[in-house]
Amino acid sequence: MDPKELKKAAAQEALQLVESGMRLGVGTGSTADEFTKLLGAKVQAGFEVQAVTTSIKTEKLCIEVGVKTFTLDELPELDLTIDGADELDQDLQLIKGGGGALLREKIVAQASKEMVVIADASKVVDPLGAFPLPIEVVPFGLKATELEIAKISKELGLSGPVVIRKNEDGSDFVTDGGHFILDASFGRISDAKQLNEQLNLIPGVVETGLFIDIATKAVIAAPDGVKIMTK
Ligand code: A5P
Repeated sequence: MDPKELKKAAAQEALQLVESGMRLGVGTGSTADEFTKLLGAKVQAGFEVQAVTTSIKTEKLCIEVGVKTFTLDELPELDLTIDGADELDQDLQLIKGGGGALLREKIVAQASKEMVVIADASKVVDPLGAFPLPIEVVPFGLKATELEIAKISKELGLSGPVVIRKNEDGSDFVTDGGHFILDASFGRISDAKQLNEQLNLIPGVVETGLFIDIATKAVIAAPDGVKIMTK
């Protein structure tokens, strides 16, 4: 089955969870984009929702499809966030940030009563870590931060290349918040909670792509149908 169709199926199912008048966090990435387009069509048909987006890219898409957007300062408490993930495990712990929006995604998800992940079944893994873990860092003192990350990962028994994310033209990838991203290919992360806590103690680390105890539900699309995962 076409991966796009699976993303659309998960998005369609998740749309049923959105109630009229909700304050909604809207995610970033190709799966979240499918959701945003479907939401736009529903809004065009008269459905009302107040959206807070997780990236400039998603904000542009919302405007394009007619979904009214607000800042998180205007709506600091949200009812629900729907977003994709790069990986998720059976406990609904996630790796996010493949699209570089992890910081805003985590802030928006944390501000929401519920976070629902939409993904195709290939994203469900055990354990997390085959997908390189995005770590958002400040440009100042990058080398020192890299050394700290290497030290902490070694202490936790993790190894693998940690590389700065680049754009296709070879320039440094810069997030919406003006930061860099290091992608850490650890392969297997046996204790995601501990790794997230330890990395977040490094002053140059802004946030990691590990979403621990944030997602409350996942809508997973496979060729044989859509399944719901809960905690
Ligand atoms: C954006 O920063 C990411 O967290 C995305 O939500 C995640 O990478 C999933 O993207 P896809 O739906 O494109 O796989």
